[in-house]
Amino acid sequence: MTTTAPAGDPESGVAVREAERADLLAVFHIEQEAFPQPWPFSAFERFLDDPGFLVAQTTDESPRETATVGDDGRVVGYVVADTVPNHGEAIGHVKDIAVAPECRGAGVGKQLLGAALRTLAGEGAASVKLEVRRSNDAARSLYEEFGFEHRNTVPRYYDNGEDALVLVRDF
Ligand SMILES: CC(C)(COP(=O)(O)OP(=O)(O)OC[C@H]1O[C@@H](n2cnc3c(N)ncnc32)[C@H](O)[C@@H]1OP(=O)(O)O)[C@@H](O)C(=O)NCCC(=O)NCCS
Repeated sequence: MTTTAPAGDPESGVAVREAERADLLAVFHIEQEAFPQPWPFSAFERFLDDPGFLVAQTTDESPRETATVGDDGRVVGYVVADTVPNHGEAIGHVKDIAVAPECRGAGVGKQLLGAALRTLAGEGAASVKLEVRRSNDAARSLYEEFGFEHRNTVPRYYDNGEDALVLVRDF
């Protein structure tokens, strides 16, 4: 795996870096807390070594939202994104993103999504797509801030019958 220098942000107090095997249990735990239909552990294992699988880890400058005393280096969020070829150009796909419930609202999601988009752009993606539940206001406004626009709707995409909105951002 290539190692990236962690991209730190003094405001959120986390650094974003590529995921490693040792992060998987923490990632899986956050996934289970975040989603009614969580990915299985093996799904995350498959994305190890993929440059778009990133984690946010607390640093020693972390404010109270993201760290408690003595827990420097805790994984508090992750994003999984990749690129797929499509008619001669690469399309990026943000497949999964979540932040530990007690660390939300502190800028970690923004930092993860920003890092994932930079990675996808670096891989030559011309655009990026993702799916989001219609009812997921927090995620929808995060994506809106990053310039994602509603392209189409997949009715009853989720197990509970909820629609998925397909959002796209062109680079
Ligand atoms: C979506 C999620 C990743 C955002 O992470 P976060 O660290 O809380 O987000 P940030 O603190 O970086 O906030 C970024 C933006 O998201 C939006 N946002 C975050 N929390 C919000 C809330 N409770 N209500 C409305 N908007 C919210 C805002 O636009 C915010 O920007 P602002 O601070 O300038 O207002 C997080 O809420 C989460 O893990 N949710 C559960 C998993 C999930 O739904 N993932 C998305 C699947 S498509």
